[in-house]
Amino acid sequence: MKPTQNDRYWWADRIAYQIYPRSFRDANGDGTGDLKGITEKLDYLRDLGVGLLWLSPVYRSPMDDGGYDISDYRDIDPLFGSMADMDELLREANKRDIRVLMDLVINHCSDEHPLFQKALAEPGCEEEGFFYFRRTSDGNPPNNWRSMFGGSAWERTADGRWYLHLFSKKQPDLNWENPTLRAKLYDMIRFWLDKGLGGFRIDAIVHIKKQPGLPSGPRNEPDGMVDCFPYARNIPGIGDFLTELREQTFDRYQCVTIAEAAGVPNRQLADYIGPNGYFSTMFDFSYAEPYSYGHGWHTCKNPGEWSFRCWRDALYASQLETQKVGYGAVFTENHDYPRAIQKFVPEKDHAPEVQKMLGIFYFFLRGMPFIYQGQELGMTNPGFTSIDRINDISTKNHYRVALADGLEPAEAMRLVARYSRDNARVPFPWDDSENGGFSPAGSAEPWLPVHPDYRTVNAAAELADPDSVLAFYKKMVALRKSERLFVDGTFAPVLKRYDKLVAYTRTGADGRRAAVICSFSDRARTVKLPFAVGKVLLASHGEVALSHCPDGDVLTLKPYQGVVLEG
Ligand code: GLC
Repeated sequence: MKPTQNDRYWWADRIAYQIYPRSFRDANGDGTGDLKGITEKLDYLRDLGVGLLWLSPVYRSPMDDGGYDISDYRDIDPLFGSMADMDELLREANKRDIRVLMDLVINHCSDEHPLFQKALAEPGCEEEGFFYFRRTSDGNPPNNWRSMFGGSAWERTADGRWYLHLFSKKQPDLNWENPTLRAKLYDMIRFWLDKGLGGFRIDAIVHIKKQPGLPSGPRNEPDGMVDCFPYARNIPGIGDFLTELREQTFDRYQCVTIAEAAGVPNRQLADYIGPNGYFSTMFDFSYAEPYSYGHGWHTCKNPGEWSFRCWRDALYASQLETQKVGYGAVFTENHDYPRAIQKFVPEKDHAPEVQKMLGIFYFFLRGMPFIYQGQELGMTNPGFTSIDRINDISTKNHYRVALADGLEPAEAMRLVARYSRDNARVPFPWDDSENGGFSPAGSAEPWLPVHPDYRTVNAAAELADPDSVLAFYKKMVALRKSERLFVDGTFAPVLKRYDKLVAYTRTGADGRRAAVICSFSDRARTVKLPFAVGKVLLASHGEVALSHCPDGDVLTLKPYQGVVLEG
């Protein structure tokens, strides 16, 4: 697969950036980020080199799950502004050659959506068939599936019916088996594409097909429930829905679609991406999350000490398999995870140069790199100490389940500080003024607390510092854009015998090659390279200690040093 301009892969040489709109920039001073705030900051994004902008949801929503619970797909929530603000953002972004992607949330909607309200009010009406409503005779839920946010995946209605929600109870699952519902969704998607969107990031799409009959499963935790994944993720038959979705919508436009597609086995990658895939590309979570939580964060099977080698094997496998069929989307952070540094590096070693190394290791992988807001500043977790400061529905659920299982509040809070999605959702620090310049002076208090480090870690300070993490991200962007091999060169892992090392080559069609070598160790170490190095293209920090030998060069890496070499 050779991505070239003006074809199915027009987006592949772009740098993508994710905005969590509630936390990016508050232009009207109500303490919440908004669309006008994003428009204000487009030059910042252009200067960073961004060519695709993914906005987490800005549709009308009761905000139970930060906007991933939509009550009107064709309107903008007043919290974020108006449709005119959205049109202005699109116009201004296009002027800067930044294509805007919206978040497409079509596995579920909000329980406040008029279709669900009608289904609630009138049992037996057509709209009831747009959801999964069931009745049981024994007063128990129809099956024992566990919701991804904790607790049963079923909620009882006032009149004794049950409805399915794989996420929060305010997010009823849409019934894709219903053709009328599907037609409504396609129509809505075309409405947005007609506005000139660049495309969509597609939320939770692997869940739209449920195992027929919605069977219970053997309980896998003391709560008597079972993970819903085997019954509601990537279930056979999903391809029929996804093919129809593509044909009815995306295929008719020059848009890019990036699926949130967890749990797709490698052998099915070609169904999802590539020339015949349902989507342009996808996020592969096989290397994103080394944890397995059980029924709550407190039952996490491998906290902290997850195996570096297992994680790296998953990363390499993902790269190798993806390049056989198409082009990937690579990331280390998003709005659903704590900041990446916490996963990889003990707190005592958190430092800007380590953030730079973490930037290098993923930025030159094969795939379109996504930067999550604040990552380019080297933001860390803010260190939440009180559950009262948390907004995220999934964090609150996990906290409650932990207390119900007998954990002390302080212990449960330590888990919150570690795993909460709000870690990455605190306001973006623009400068060192009050509230980090997130809102204009004298505004309402931000909806989440500002990061305690905002006086030093902020955009203005980093723009002025040539050695900042932000300045380094700009160097990475420039390097990726300067060499076509970083876009379409072949990926091959090297130096696999070394632990705590991510090392790979990218080889262009003309045989030119670059090597990326990143040490995740807190000690200096020497590695023997299987090739001779031309020159050093980029280093996270310090001098690069290379000695030339006839059978390959020797590289001495400083703790947490990352380098890009021509070789
Ligand atoms: C996706 C989103 C997440 C959301 C969930 C339910 O995983 O990334 O933020 O909570 O879907 O919509």
